[in-house]
Amino acid sequence: MNTPLKQHLIDPEVCIRCYTCEMTCPLQAIEHDDNNVVVNAELCNYCMDCIPVCPTGSIDEWRVVNNAYSLEEQYSWEELPEQQEIAADNGDADLDALDEAMAKLLADAHQGAGGKSKAPASAAKPTINLYNLGKPVEAVVQGNFRLTEDGADTHVSHIILDFQGHPMPVLEGQSIGIIAPGTDGDGNPHLPRLYSVSSPRDGERSGYNNVSLTVKREEHGICSNYVCDLKKGDTVSVTGPFGATFLLPDDPEARIMMICTGTGSAPMRAFTMRRQRAVGSENGGMTMYFGARSPENLPYHGPLKKVPENLLKQYLVFSRVEGMPKEYVQDRMLMHQAEIGEFLQDPNGYVYICGLRGMEEGVGEAFEKIAKGINVDWTNLRDSMREEGRYHVETY
Ligand code: A2P
Repeated sequence: MNTPLKQHLIDPEVCIRCYTCEMTCPLQAIEHDDNNVVVNAELCNYCMDCIPVCPTGSIDEWRVVNNAYSLEEQYSWEELPEQQEIAADNGDADLDALDEAMAKLLADAHQGAGGKSKAPASAAKPTINLYNLGKPVEAVVQGNFRLTEDGADTHVSHIILDFQGHPMPVLEGQSIGIIAPGTDGDGNPHLPRLYSVSSPRDGERSGYNNVSLTVKREEHGICSNYVCDLKKGDTVSVTGPFGATFLLPDDPEARIMMICTGTGSAPMRAFTMRRQRAVGSENGGMTMYFGARSPENLPYHGPLKKVPENLLKQYLVFSRVEGMPKEYVQDRMLMHQAEIGEFLQDPNGYVYICGLRGMEEGVGEAFEKIAKGINVDWTNLRDSMREEGRYHVETY
């Protein structure tokens, strides 16, 4: 008998056939026909590059098998087979070791993908993958405004795209893909880069078919520089919408806590505008912890000052202001342990974290400390909050 193998599979019932995984796999281990997208067990080396790019999570399926499912078998499936009982001739220890190794790989891959959280129960049903690489939609740039001040060390732009007669049913918290023109070093077209929308579902301007993005110019970033250089009237190839979990509850009584850095504020802006337009100030409450280098580098610093306190409680923290101690969002959270402890125990409290990859760990540690203060095990609480659609992480 072969050594048991943990085989990577794709759920054909959930997969939306965007082929992003296939384009991302460095080993060409993923392929498709008209029916399914499949993984070649002989080529897959568990590098996990395909896990975070999948907009549905269908990529994240695993079965322990004695003999790998062939490509032909996978092509014929309409649903995934159940996990079979594995005869443990090789000893349970082998399987345990395999599980442990896979659990670590998966945990690494899920860093920043937010783990397996679910959408809030009352969230609107998202449309996903209406447009893909083979069939993008053209949008026209309506405007491109620099958000960070001229002398600031970061350049963040607010770009508004008009979809004209084409539907773009995007919800707050979802992303769209931008395809930079030209080809990469190997002569292949660039893959779409995903950006969270920063406008609410009824448009940047209410009732208009337009969407805004908040994009930071990255040194050598092909797509971010392309987007930040766009001019009014330019046309842009767009894919999406993507994302089915980082969504706002429609329940006006839901309490929202938003924790973000830099351009991670994009979905938080969308959430706030949605609440402001659809619910007004009579709602369960929204609180935001927002970190930036300085006020000049904080996107939407001016407009945020005009958002009323009874709609959004704001804690803006800065890490690089001369004469002031460096402060991160998690530092400020630790100053509010009693309030946050109470919030975590409220079944109507929803947490959203978006921004730099590193903040996930720091914010998680702050929550752990706060949970400990109320005699609650953070890992259990976080997992049940994820299961209930109340804990969402998107970091990059
Ligand atoms: P820092 O001054 O240490 O870079 P950026 O401007 O690069 O997008 O970053 C946004 C903010 O996030 C900055 O204030 C940055 O601080 C801060 N930051 C960097 N690393 C972390 C982290 N691990 N946790 C929380 N905030 C962070």
